[in-house]
Amino acid sequence: MELSKETYYVTTPIYYPSDKLHIGHAYTTVAADTIAKYKEMQGFDAMFLTGSDEHGQKIERKAEEAGQEPKKYVDEIVATFKNLWEKLGINYDYFIRTTEPRHEKVVQKIFKKLYEQGDIYKDKYEGWYCTPCEAFWTERQLEEEKGEKVCPDCNRPVEWVEEKSYFFKSSKYADRLLAHIKENPNFIQPESRKNEMISFIEQGLEDLSVSRTTFDWGVPVPIDEDHVIYVWIDALSNYITAIGYETDAENFNKYWPADLHLVGKDILRFHTIIWPTILMALDLELPEQVFGHGWLLSKTGKMSKSKGNVVDPIVLIEDFGVDAIRYYLLREIAFGADGAYSTEALIQRINSDLANDLGNLLNRTVSMVDKYFAGIIPEPVQEEELDLELKEFAASTISRIETEMDNLRYTVALEELWNFVRRTNKYIDQTTPWILARDENKKERLGTVLYNLLEALRIISVTLKPFFVETPIEMARQLAHIQEVKGADWQATSWGELESGRKVINGDPIFPRIDVEEYFEKVAARKDTKKEEGVNVKVTPIKDRVKFDDFMEMDLRVAEILAAEKIEGSNKLLKLQVDIGLEERQLVAGIAKHYQSEDIIGKKILIVANLEPATIFGVESNGMILAASDEEGNLTLSTVASEIANGSRVK
Ligand code: ME8
Ligand code: MG
Repeated sequence: MELSKETYYVTTPIYYPSDKLHIGHAYTTVAADTIAKYKEMQGFDAMFLTGSDEHGQKIERKAEEAGQEPKKYVDEIVATFKNLWEKLGINYDYFIRTTEPRHEKVVQKIFKKLYEQGDIYKDKYEGWYCTPCEAFWTERQLEEEKGEKVCPDCNRPVEWVEEKSYFFKSSKYADRLLAHIKENPNFIQPESRKNEMISFIEQGLEDLSVSRTTFDWGVPVPIDEDHVIYVWIDALSNYITAIGYETDAENFNKYWPADLHLVGKDILRFHTIIWPTILMALDLELPEQVFGHGWLLSKTGKMSKSKGNVVDPIVLIEDFGVDAIRYYLLREIAFGADGAYSTEALIQRINSDLANDLGNLLNRTVSMVDKYFAGIIPEPVQEEELDLELKEFAASTISRIETEMDNLRYTVALEELWNFVRRTNKYIDQTTPWILARDENKKERLGTVLYNLLEALRIISVTLKPFFVETPIEMARQLAHIQEVKGADWQATSWGELESGRKVINGDPIFPRIDVEEYFEKVAARKDTKKEEGVNVKVTPIKDRVKFDDFMEMDLRVAEILAAEKIEGSNKLLKLQVDIGLEERQLVAGIAKHYQSEDIIGKKILIVANLEPATIFGVESNGMILAASDEEGNLTLSTVASEIANGSRVK
């Protein structure tokens, strides 16, 4: 009978398919992929989960803007996720989508169970809501920016909302959660963030709103069809529905509790407070560890799509190759800390660590075997003190990497490995093979030196397997050990497995050097061609064509703004009185962030005059203003180019 292996279950956040992913998302996913591959090599049965968080108002709105059904909209974006993961060499075991029927059904079951046992109850919600973050905030949690209330997470304006909602009694579990955190020092990492979480809980937990009536794109509340289940119960449950909670007990029991939820610090609170309390209510064990890593920053702060400051990983992979990107992400910024992304630093890493240290070591070694032994791997027959030292260095490097990896210190693990790479380069300088080669009597010593170099390189290639995708295989190909390295587990990082007698292959440099200036010239030229071709990546695509008659149904008019004032409780909306020639109208317009009331009085703008009236924030709106906005969030009112009578028709 085969003994069942110990399992290792690691997850990434399930990302919102509201936009393409950027290198911030790649960062978490590469880190999770690396630890999963490492554990698998160590003999664990590793289960690596990623996926997409597909419900919610933001997606519903995005799909509407794009003129698509939400499901179709997310299908297209999820395809770009999977494409990115493939290009990045991400080896997930399962990709969960929160729209899959199995997930939706179990989420409903969970909701029902919690409701029936009294952990979910119905009440009314009033509060400040951040739409981009899909988070509610209490008055005291809000921050202020230029006199406006903003979300403490993303610093964008919040809206006041009131609605009926179901609530989850997270407060009931606060004491148990605090005790768990204190008794399990590794539960929340890194340490500094743990303390933030503790003090957050100690301030007192408020019950969590878990349903909405304001949008439809979500899992219906099983006991009340007016409500959909709101983000966190739906999203967080993915970690258990994906492995078979309530559908496949055997598989679920095999992998739960998870060993590691890897997340960015933006959602650490959801994973260390909300999720554990849901699990407690379900009477399930808590994950071993939740690790909240830092942010990749760009010059204008946290990289995020809504700020328009993101770096596209696909472009980087095309320009520099997958392993250079993975190396940079894991090596450059201490895992846990924030760090700025820079292409200059990436190129610097490629040139120094990859091209110079590693690439040269391989190239020099294989060339010498070619030259002095016609490419045949020699036998190690004449050992010296120096060789023992190199072997010991290899062994101690591996054991230090193990310690670092168990603490998710990728940066230090790679630093250790590169110390060994540099130590091996130094071994060439110390042994001077080109001098040994001049003396026929030193042939055996020369062969031993080259064997050691090849063996060091083989060990490096095996050690790199969790981190890199293509390089270990290409190194192994040149070292004539491709099958062995492909199938190697972590055991194969010990000295002496290289077989003599095979013929090495002198290949191209694994990491060509990159000239920084040339690279940036190339990038600039690429932008120019795009401009010439009329491609502007920042513009929303054109919608499907409509019939002329359909357009003529719209009654667009010139309107003069007579009065404007802010609407109480909203920081986006203005109430306008306009003159459209035949009559005066009242309109509500979402332009308060872009225009002061007093600045627009007297302006002649364009409106849709025959739209059905609507009540927005309790104020009647009889028509709609026209304004232009771009993907960066700039907005400008449409106006007329010269004087014309109020009420003139626009067509
Ligand atoms: O929050 N630096 O999805 P999301 C580092 N659907 N990591 C970054 C980053 C940056 N600049 N930007 C994003 C959600 N990330 C929810 C999660 S989980 C049950 C639900 C990474 O698409 C980081 O891992 O906004 C962060 O936590 C995650 O993407 C947020 O992804
Ligand atoms: Mg986010």
